[in-house]
Amino acid sequence: MTELIRLTDVTKVYQGGITGALNGVSLAVEKGEFTAIMGPSGSGKSTMLNLVAGLDRPTSGTVVVGGTDLGKLGEAGSARFRRDHIGFVFQFFYLLPNLTALENVLIPAQLKGGAATGRGHELLEQLGIKDVADRYPARLSGGQQQRVAIARALINNPTLLLADEPTGALDTQSGEQVMEVLGGLNGGGQTILLVTHDAKLATRHAARVISVMDGKIVDDARLESPERAPSDVIRVRGEEATR
Ligand SMILES: Nc1ncnc2c1ncn2[C@@H]1O[C@H](COP(=O)(O)OP(=O)(O)O)[C@@H](O)[C@H]1O
Ligand SMILES: [Mg+2]
Repeated sequence: MTELIRLTDVTKVYQGGITGALNGVSLAVEKGEFTAIMGPSGSGKSTMLNLVAGLDRPTSGTVVVGGTDLGKLGEAGSARFRRDHIGFVFQFFYLLPNLTALENVLIPAQLKGGAATGRGHELLEQLGIKDVADRYPARLSGGQQQRVAIARALINNPTLLLADEPTGALDTQSGEQVMEVLGGLNGGGQTILLVTHDAKLATRHAARVISVMDGKIVDDARLESPERAPSDVIRVRGEEATR
């Protein structure tokens, strides 16, 4: 197994913060793992994800992703690292309203200077939303918008997919579909680090659940057999009627 992420004694104290957002976190994640991070609001989950993405720096300790010590990267190096290795999905989808679903998906590829229309269509098909390629976000359901955001995060074939509460703004059924999509991607080999505070979703879909409390890891459990979608095709159950 290849190690992809290693946090060593990571502490993060925000300016003005009285206690640390993270307090001595050490963690290793292998390539191909589907890990869920759980914990109450304010426990440091987003901080952890942001450090792994190179969006922020630890106050002390090291964050190494794919052999790169992120603390040693400057601003430009950090931006390049994110562009080349990280796909990030958020609770709110942040799609550009004046671009179609497909155009949204293609943005990161264009920023990288490549055309990737074929790959974009392929991803939309894989995520079960190829029929809405030409629609604008306002005409998509929440679940569809999040799948567009996931496709956008994947267009540059990131080493690591990070998702911060990707089901937080979705109803139960759409949330379940998004988790099935993530499970299917992981079945195809995608490493995923996900933040959720839905224990049911975490244990049903991720293979490893890490619990965080007050900026510390308090539990790290590998699950026997999470429900996984087949790796070649992602079947989305109970597809919602398109509006
Ligand atoms: N940019 C920031 N500046 C100051 N404090 C922050 C900032 N971001 C997060 N915090 C604080 O750090 C702690 C952890 O936050 P966060 O990582 O967002 O938790 P979670 O994602 O688990 O809800 C909280 O106490 C929060 O208020
Ligand atoms: Mg958060």
